[in-house]
Amino acid sequence: MVSDVVEWSLTATCAVVFALVIFFYAKKWKKSEGVGVDLLPSPKKLPIIGNLHLVSDPPFRSFRDLSQQYGPIMHLKLGGVDAVVVSSPEIAKEILKDNDPVYTNRPESIALKIFWYNYINIAFSPYGGYWKQMRKICTLELLSPKSVRSFGSIRKDEVSRLVDSVRLSAGETINLTQKVFSMTSSVTCRAAFGKVCRDKDSLIKLVKQGLDMGAGSSIADTFPSSVIAHALSWRTKRRLMKMRRKLDVILDGIIREHETNRKDSGRGNGEFGNEDLVDVLLRVMESGELEFPIGYDNIKAVLFDMFAGGTETSSSTIDWAMTELVRNPQVMAKAQAEIRQVVKERGGDGVEEEDVQKLKYLRLVIMETLRLHPQGSILARVPREARRISGYNIPVNVIVVVNVWAIHRDPKHWLDPESFKPERFANEDIIGSDFRYLPFGNGKRMCPGITFGWASVALPLAQLLYNFNWELPAGVDAQALNMLETSGLTTSRIQNLFLVATHYQP
Ligand code: HEM
Repeated sequence: MVSDVVEWSLTATCAVVFALVIFFYAKKWKKSEGVGVDLLPSPKKLPIIGNLHLVSDPPFRSFRDLSQQYGPIMHLKLGGVDAVVVSSPEIAKEILKDNDPVYTNRPESIALKIFWYNYINIAFSPYGGYWKQMRKICTLELLSPKSVRSFGSIRKDEVSRLVDSVRLSAGETINLTQKVFSMTSSVTCRAAFGKVCRDKDSLIKLVKQGLDMGAGSSIADTFPSSVIAHALSWRTKRRLMKMRRKLDVILDGIIREHETNRKDSGRGNGEFGNEDLVDVLLRVMESGELEFPIGYDNIKAVLFDMFAGGTETSSSTIDWAMTELVRNPQVMAKAQAEIRQVVKERGGDGVEEEDVQKLKYLRLVIMETLRLHPQGSILARVPREARRISGYNIPVNVIVVVNVWAIHRDPKHWLDPESFKPERFANEDIIGSDFRYLPFGNGKRMCPGITFGWASVALPLAQLLYNFNWELPAGVDAQALNMLETSGLTTSRIQNLFLVATHYQP
């Protein structure tokens, strides 16, 4: 109690000192403000906070509103951070493709640094040899089409559990968001940790906190070069360190058990006696053949990456798809008719992975879901060199933000952009080739988990639509559903989805 009072008054004193220092330096800051970006269109800035007052959660919505006034490339001063916000496919291409090797670093934040072991994971590691090495290991061992196919039985098993649990609650209101999240996290857990998949719930909690806080959670992220702001962030840092210690305990346990089992049985810990991702990482660590040697922290950072990348993105995409489908019953009926026809033609009683390839309309439904609800609503990059972009000189000390969410809804590029119309993709498969559509990013840092992610979305969605007819609970109006997003590293719906399922009899 006494220590809390002391800590609080220390914080208050620091806050006053901080405000005075900021006031004192405000003029100096104004002069040096935005060197290299000051020619860009920009809203008027206030002292100290710059344009922070114009940005609310989720930031991509505010950025879109501002870009309608200031154009497709603009400068925002967000506290002590210079951000260049890009909202057109043409300029996105300049950043992500034409200048790809330059725009390959990611912004930093205190939460990312602490949670992801000082950026020795894949997603936040600076561009270079180490990043290439770790990305290659994961791409080959967990995320390749062959590996993804080999996890088919795990997916099938977990999706059957999901269907069974919905069936048990048929006719009642269920929290579909929670059920789907639990299914995708089990798939990732079993694929990455094999038989030693435990403490899943605690891990999930930490992943969610990491993803929520990763986008910037403290005053030190807003004023990164201020020593005082860093001092004032001690409470957040202490909380993050506490969470990191919990993460360490879980991941250390998983790694230790893998090591013991490997020694005792001479076999991998994968569910079929094969190697899982932890085994592979341990093997390459022990081989001593890596150009950039790795230790336990590297393994833990990458495991947390896979868990974070593989869980919330897929479950949230299924959640958005189901939300859009209950709001657009004619689309739901068309998707169900296709799935039920394909299963009937095969003479089956449920969807198998081989059916999914034939579900052309379901593919369009997923593409349209990712257009309106991209998981990476914002792609943030830090340039490694100054470059001219769209006629402006963009220096190294800025964060360049590609507003994917805004590009995906721009009426200049999409007909009736706010409507959910899967048919718009009927004649074009544009993933990776068209800068109007960036659900998996683009360039060297594009998502390496597309095949894994797609499989984790398509089969569960097909099974949910095949086995059940879906309705909103009595009295809930589909058009009144809250379609706002959370802000964080992924983009979930702000509210859980509650639906009533009735069993489909073929
Ligand atoms: C529907 C599913 C998914 C979506 C929508 C998605 C989306 C994205 C996006 C937008 C990025 C940023 C790309 C960029 O900066 O250009 C990304 C990066 C990444 N994703 Fe995914 N993702 C999905 C599934 C997965 C899965 C299943 C995994 C792994 C198990 C994964 C692992 C990663 C990793 C490691 C990165 C960082 C890559 C790097 O920085 O080199 N993702 N993802």
